[in-house]
Amino acid sequence: MDPILNPYAPGAGTPPPEMAGRDAVRQKMHLCIERLRRGRPAKSMMLIGLRGVGKTVLLDQMMRDAEASGVVAIRIEAPEGRSLPATLAPQLRLGLLKLSRTEQAKEVAIRGLRALAGFVGKMKLTYDDIEVGLDYEPEPGLADNGDLEGDLTMLLEQVGYAAKEASTLIAIFIDELQYVPESQMAALISALHRCAQLNLPLVLVGAGLPQLRGRMGEAKSYAERLFDFAEIGALDESDASSAIVKPAHSEGVEIEEDAVSLIVNYTKGYPYFLQEWGKHTWDVARASPITRSDVETASTEAVAALDESFFRVRFDRLTPKEKKYLRVMAELGGGPHRSGDIAAKLGRESSSLGPVRSSLISKGMIWSPTHGDTAFTVPLFDEFMRRIMPGEEWAQSDT
Ligand SMILES: Nc1ncnc2c1ncn2[C@@H]1O[C@H](COP(=O)(O)OP(=O)(O)O)[C@@H](O)[C@H]1O
Ligand SMILES: [Mg+2]
Repeated sequence: MDPILNPYAPGAGTPPPEMAGRDAVRQKMHLCIERLRRGRPAKSMMLIGLRGVGKTVLLDQMMRDAEASGVVAIRIEAPEGRSLPATLAPQLRLGLLKLSRTEQAKEVAIRGLRALAGFVGKMKLTYDDIEVGLDYEPEPGLADNGDLEGDLTMLLEQVGYAAKEASTLIAIFIDELQYVPESQMAALISALHRCAQLNLPLVLVGAGLPQLRGRMGEAKSYAERLFDFAEIGALDESDASSAIVKPAHSEGVEIEEDAVSLIVNYTKGYPYFLQEWGKHTWDVARASPITRSDVETASTEAVAALDESFFRVRFDRLTPKEKKYLRVMAELGGGPHRSGDIAAKLGRESSSLGPVRSSLISKGMIWSPTHGDTAFTVPLFDEFMRRIMPGEEWAQSDT
């Protein structure tokens, strides 16, 4: 089939040709926005799931949905190694500038920009990575105490008031939220809590790996009650089939039923894998309809492509010690595994593995579903580890 017309879209954050199985979450967001717009309480949302399940593309879609209904939306990605104030401040500024263009909100939005100036001035002392253009002089006493929790609260309150004056809503979208360090997370949650108490039209939609839920609870014990946690996972059989079939149909191409089932089978319904299989199957097939044997031929290439991209980028960031730990986990299977079993397999004491475990957690490679358990954050990573480190040599290496 003509590769130029290939509709499938494997990639990090690459919008899929068909956003399958996410209508319920989008509907929930719609409900949340419409309630807030009418001054009714509604919880902020957290999209939680493993790598490659489609959190980023869903977050972006929800942002477009929100904007289409007149919401002022800002979006950031919490990067590893940068502070939340540094990434948030420039976007809050843009949001406030937008709000200040509405006549009846102008004054309040400008006060928000003064709060931002005060906030940035003080936070610079702690977070020297903040860089943001300032449009107004700070107002003494407004978000400038130098304490992140208090100042961020005051700042977001001002943003909320400005949105209220403009008769709109402001939605803050944050991807990779699990990378935000605990004290900054606590400040963010506390600020949102205050805005909710004041019934302000401000909402957060976050996305992150499964460990996010626990991390938010550790930062603030009431976080569980403040947010709606939506588990984003593999697609069920019917949605996974749609993700493959609909894009083909849009191009006037048929795909046989048993070909679709085989793709769903290989990918276990994981969105990233579906796109990769769809893409390679399309390129392999000579003509419509696409058959089961096309899928079989394409599978080798799909696996190779995954190994080279999706899995490889994660593997390359690991130290030898970390690789060995994950390889041992893979030897035990898909998981989750008891941390004690992993230690036993390594011939070590659990306690001596604390450092390697915590660095793997902070790199977002593993997480702990329940106390004493360890699981991969990347689906099918165990199979990849067995492919990339075959045999028994890894077990001998002394790390
Ligand atoms: N609902 C969906 N249906 C079909 N494909 C999807 C869906 N969600 C995501 N994808 C595809 O999965 C891949 C990974 O999406 P991404 O949003 O980067 O995942 P995450 O942020 O969870 O790691 C992309 O290629 C995207 O096109
Ligand atoms: Mg993502």
